[in-house]
Amino acid sequence: MSRAGRARTEPDRASPALVATTLVVGAILLLVLLLAAFGGAPEPTVPGLPGAGLFVGWLLPITRLLLDFAAVGAVGCLLFAAYLVPPRDQDLRRPAQRALRAASWCALVWAGLAAVGSLLTLADIAGQSLGEVLTAPGFADSLVSLDQSRSLLLVSALALLVTLSARRVKTTDGPMLVLVLALAALVPPILTGHAATHRAHELATVSLVIHVIAVSLWVGGLAALLMFRRRSPGKDAATVSRYSTVALVCFGLTAASGLLNAVIRLGDGTGLFAELLGSGYGVLILVKLAALAALAWFGWWHRRHAIALLAAGRPSAFRRFAGREVVLMLATIAVAVALSRTPTPSGGSSDVVDPADPGHQHAASTAFTGPPTSGH
Ligand code: HEM
Repeated sequence: MSRAGRARTEPDRASPALVATTLVVGAILLLVLLLAAFGGAPEPTVPGLPGAGLFVGWLLPITRLLLDFAAVGAVGCLLFAAYLVPPRDQDLRRPAQRALRAASWCALVWAGLAAVGSLLTLADIAGQSLGEVLTAPGFADSLVSLDQSRSLLLVSALALLVTLSARRVKTTDGPMLVLVLALAALVPPILTGHAATHRAHELATVSLVIHVIAVSLWVGGLAALLMFRRRSPGKDAATVSRYSTVALVCFGLTAASGLLNAVIRLGDGTGLFAELLGSGYGVLILVKLAALAALAWFGWWHRRHAIALLAAGRPSAFRRFAGREVVLMLATIAVAVALSRTPTPSGGSSDVVDPADPGHQHAASTAFTGPPTSGH
């Protein structure tokens, strides 16, 4: 069936910009709801005590969510250019070039959000408003000296490198090199996040690195399949079946690394099930488990029906289902960011920093405001 014939049989599609905006706004609303409902919401600053305030408190997780989306977008477009389009195919040039350009834009947004995230993280940990942080003497030193903000600066630099190199790639193995660089840029925040401060931090860190890389390839790859069409249904089917193998491996890795990470965080206390059902963190884990089960069903349906229909020249079933699957995956990432901002039940270190905690504040504030104020 020609492209014109295919267009006639498929319903009108909303513009990509409208779809993307609706998804992002929906995901932010879901994140705010989950943080408010399960104990991850920021608290207003107590008068007389240091605090970054609600503006920073809410902007930090929202920035983290948008950053995760941009990173997943960049990784997915690069996977499409580097692997999903079979390398010997003459078409490589067109779909892969479009994917590389899109990867470059996603990476630029990623770099910007990581820089903003670095600032917000410093304010959050220092327990000061953005204005106070930006006007404090030695601001730049503290941005670099604090592990968490420095790691986001490193992400920003690496994402900028991805932006530039994705635009300059000309050879067929170039996209794979840029993909590896993008995957490396996912790692620094995990090495300085709460996984690194956990008692079993090696296991917590390694499993979270595997988790985030697998999720980024899985979700990003499917989104890229929906964004970039091949010339014919047969070539689309070839690309989709290549993705299907990647998806199966990433599904397994996401499940195993996620469960391991959850057990590490929940296992400290009296009983795993008590903490699963009795804490906001635990309930969010259960929500993710349910999402994973639903995604398993989507995977099965694609393998059982959609890919065959696609090869038979009927792409609409695959596109419709893949579209819904991407919506569920993006919602699950919002659940994941809410999880990373929700205190773990064992009081284990979480990503949530209590500016009122003198030990924490003291370390950060002396970094850029000199000796502690009279309140200590
Ligand atoms: C068996 C199901 C799953 C479990 C038990 C699980 C568990 C976890 C845990 C414990 C974390 C660390 C959270 C923290 O920082 O405290 C995490 C992070 C994450 N998970 Fe999962 N996960 C699962 C499935 C998924 C799925 C299906 C997706 C996406 C489609 C996903 C996306 C993510 C992302 C993006 C992060 C990092 C969030 C961030 O720090 O920005 N997970 N997951």
